Amino acid sequence: MPPNLTASIPCEIKDLALADMGKRRMEWAFQTMPVLQSVRKHFITTQQFKNIRIAVCLHVTSETANLAVTLRDGGAQVVVCAADPLTVQDDAAACLVKDYGISVYAIRGAVRAAFCSHLTVSVEGRPHVVLDEGGELSARLHARPDAAEEAFGGTEGASISVQKLRAMAKEGALRYPVIAVNESVTSDLFDNRYGTGQSTLDGILRSTNLLLAGMNVVVAGYGRCGRGIALRAQGLGAKVIVTEVNPIRALEALMDGPRVMSMGEAARAGDVFITATGTKNAIAREHFEKFKNGAILCNAGRGNVEIDLETLGQMSSARRQPKEHVEEYALRDGRRIYVLGEGRPINLAVGEGHPAPAMDIALANQALSVEHLVKHGRALDRLVYSVPPEIDRQVAKMKLEAMSVNIDRMTLEQEYYAAGRSEAT
Ligand code: ADE
Repeated sequence: MPPNLTASIPCEIKDLALADMGKRRMEWAFQTMPVLQSVRKHFITTQQFKNIRIAVCLHVTSETANLAVTLRDGGAQVVVCAADPLTVQDDAAACLVKDYGISVYAIRGAVRAAFCSHLTVSVEGRPHVVLDEGGELSARLHARPDAAEEAFGGTEGASISVQKLRAMAKEGALRYPVIAVNESVTSDLFDNRYGTGQSTLDGILRSTNLLLAGMNVVVAGYGRCGRGIALRAQGLGAKVIVTEVNPIRALEALMDGPRVMSMGEAARAGDVFITATGTKNAIAREHFEKFKNGAILCNAGRGNVEIDLETLGQMSSARRQPKEHVEEYALRDGRRIYVLGEGRPINLAVGEGHPAPAMDIALANQALSVEHLVKHGRALDRLVYSVPPEIDRQVAKMKLEAMSVNIDRMTLEQEYYAAGRSEAT
């Protein structure tokens, strides 16, 4: 793109000079995203997003940058802002502006005021479709009825925000239909089980260089993410302990192999603690009091609320950083406790997030959900919807095709049998 065109793209990013690095990383990611590649080809042919304004508020990474380009290639006018300033990859942001002419408002580490102004600019662009992760953009859009009037669809990727949107829909306060993209079966598998599973362990190993084999790794929460984390930790030779509040999940964990106990008991046994509960203070004062000297804590859940760091700070006489992304809390009784990635989701705070092949599935679901909203959003009620099952199946099919895996088809006889009737009737 000629430099004068770049200069005319409204944006707020760290440094345009990072674009070359961003381009290489985006291309590297894209070559392992075959499903999104197919979707992009389809969008290029159909050009169905002509005159459609799309605001993308996701973690700005090489992978989501490829989604933004895919939507742009379908004819959309795309604006990108950050779902979390701490997870922005500045090089991907620069590449979107310089090489693809996409407006980006995202700077890693931006202070709250700048982050909020980026969201405001995105709302002022009067998007027709909003892609959100964590609800910040849709909250702002709902606060501006004049702008929300033009929106006819949205997607949301965070379970907790989906719950809030469902509550809003119940009260009649939701202004456009939203697809809960995290609820697709394929996204669940690839995002939560395989994506979070691997990238959480990756974040721990990058920041600590530990040998996990033989260590007691405590996984708090055996939901979609906790299951994936426990599976990968076991694969690395760790002795996994699961803590849960839900008896069904606790039983499932026990049958899968880990030991199950209360956090009060696990606190004495654990070497490494990983929270994936989706709730506040899963690790709190009564647990800090029991930890072994040298216990390592991190979070794979949302935000930085799962470990009560404020109380840990109050219990400490000193803090220092022995290593990047590792904070040492010196407790008054002489023990040292280590917190990784400031208690934020370790996969993005320390690592590069989910691997691109996992994001491929989630982002293809997202792209096809946008297509669904553009085609049908205006006719839908203002409710929260799951990803249409045909999209889920299509994504799974495309992924299998990309992996050159053939599967069987039911015979006619089997179809009749499954439908509960004989061929003759
Ligand atoms: N969430 C987790 N991993 C991610 C990634 N690589 N890109 C965007 N969002 C993510």
